[in-house]
Amino acid sequence: MDDYLWWRDGIIYQIYPRSFADSNGDGLGDLPGIIARLDYLADLGIDAIWLSPFYPTPDADFGYDVSDHTAVDPRFGTLEDFDRLVAESHRRGIRLVLDLVLNHTSDQHPWFRESCASRDNPKRDWYIWKPPSVSPHFRRKWGESKRGAPNNWQAAFGGPAWEYDETTGQYYLHMFLAEQPDVNWRNPEVRKAQLDVVRFWLARGVDGFRLDVFNAYFKDAQFKNNPPKFGLRGFDRQCHVYDCDQPEMIPLLNDLRAILDAHPEHYAVGETFFATPEKVLYYSGPDRLHAAFSFDFTPTDLFYPWNPAWLLKQIERREAFFTGEHWPTNVFSNHDIPRTATRYTHGEQDALAKIAVTLLLTLRGTPFMYYGEEIGMRDVSLRRGEIMDPPGKRYWPIFKGRDGCRSPMQWDDTPYAGFSSAKPWLPVHPNYHQRNVAAQNEDTDSLLNFTRKLIALRKEYPALQRGEFVPLLTRPRDALVYLRRTATQTVLVALNFHDRRVCEPLDQDMTGNRWRSLLTARDDSAALLSDNCLELAPHQVCMLVSP
Ligand code: GLC
Repeated sequence: MDDYLWWRDGIIYQIYPRSFADSNGDGLGDLPGIIARLDYLADLGIDAIWLSPFYPTPDADFGYDVSDHTAVDPRFGTLEDFDRLVAESHRRGIRLVLDLVLNHTSDQHPWFRESCASRDNPKRDWYIWKPPSVSPHFRRKWGESKRGAPNNWQAAFGGPAWEYDETTGQYYLHMFLAEQPDVNWRNPEVRKAQLDVVRFWLARGVDGFRLDVFNAYFKDAQFKNNPPKFGLRGFDRQCHVYDCDQPEMIPLLNDLRAILDAHPEHYAVGETFFATPEKVLYYSGPDRLHAAFSFDFTPTDLFYPWNPAWLLKQIERREAFFTGEHWPTNVFSNHDIPRTATRYTHGEQDALAKIAVTLLLTLRGTPFMYYGEEIGMRDVSLRRGEIMDPPGKRYWPIFKGRDGCRSPMQWDDTPYAGFSSAKPWLPVHPNYHQRNVAAQNEDTDSLLNFTRKLIALRKEYPALQRGEFVPLLTRPRDALVYLRRTATQTVLVALNFHDRRVCEPLDQDMTGNRWRSLLTARDDSAALLSDNCLELAPHQVCMLVSP
């Protein structure tokens, strides 16, 4: 296709560096480890890597607390390794998207250390400092004590969003851990320093960025209290209207976009905090971000269904929003949520995992594939003492944290799954003896080979990249059936979520088309579409193309 655009039509593969491949036997993945696996990724057919943080970090939030934005943590390699990663990825036609954490830094960042030193330090205003509150509410609660927080904001990982600093007698703001102070984006020097970080990595050859919680950069200038709402934890018991989504974000995105547009085909995708399609529309477009996550299939509610009716509702809702300039993203797993296979499959069965990966790769939008999703990795379950993730430690057993989906990549059945020669930082899933890349390479029916095939089909058939989405069952029960259609090509995708045979009468007459089977081994298209009725075997994934 002449106008193939990697970030729109291609597949972006997320690597959590400390868990992908360890080259030096310290139990932590690293950049040389990733370089050594680039041929695997090229063979899988992905277009780009999104690399979670590899910057120096004290690991309070496992890399999302950055103490130097323009360096590589020595545990993950060197800047020379990074340059080699760029060159070797590009040599294979793979782009590199870096994770930029610009809402906050580590409390060990030199900027914050200076900021803490005294109230008149030149970097004081680089973070958000406030005197103790004198509001009647806090006076009632604590008398005239100095410990009243400036307002009612809560931190996403628990507790108030304000931490009192004894030395200078003020509070600083942190939307996540106290070890992750939020920077003050309203300060022009901060803005320049942060955009210099963007320029630094662009000059080193990266192709784009994933912006961590970008819509929390700016806070209400008056620091008004958030209104209350029903929820379980303190953080969920507020409507987050004043601690994120402020109008100042748009001019900043305009500036960022201008920097990116100076380099052809460079890209930015935002991690939208409290994502909704409305917000994503607002933040993306020709002079804003190229895309932002709407997380349509991974809402943060504790319980959500996974059935054709719910999925179609989600798909149709976003189809109504993402038109013209706005391009959706397909996300089923990442480093913050339980893996797809953990949520939707039972035991070691991969039939439903095949359905999930088909959705990921055939819905309209850029697929973001999380490392290990292609072999159906499941979350590792950990004992309380093994939990590393701070919210997991805090909320156990109600929430066990995010370590489960961050376990080492399962390459083969040698000790530690071929990830490392030493005990890894998180345990390897015990299923690695059977579930690993080497074993699935050999098995023609494996999820890995199925995923490879799907990626190749997506590359070959423009309808799967940019074709419109047309549902063929508008009131689905057991199956999802839809078309991806351009003016010259139609691909039909049918997914039977049930473990029994189903026969679905389609809403539109499809018998006139001459169908060819794309995915199943035998050409059963005629039988499948007799009388405009689609007959699907248990958990069948069927893809047909016309003409
Ligand atoms: C984002 C990251 C998450 C991190 C948080 C704070 O949500 O995805 O892993 O903990 O930001 O940086």
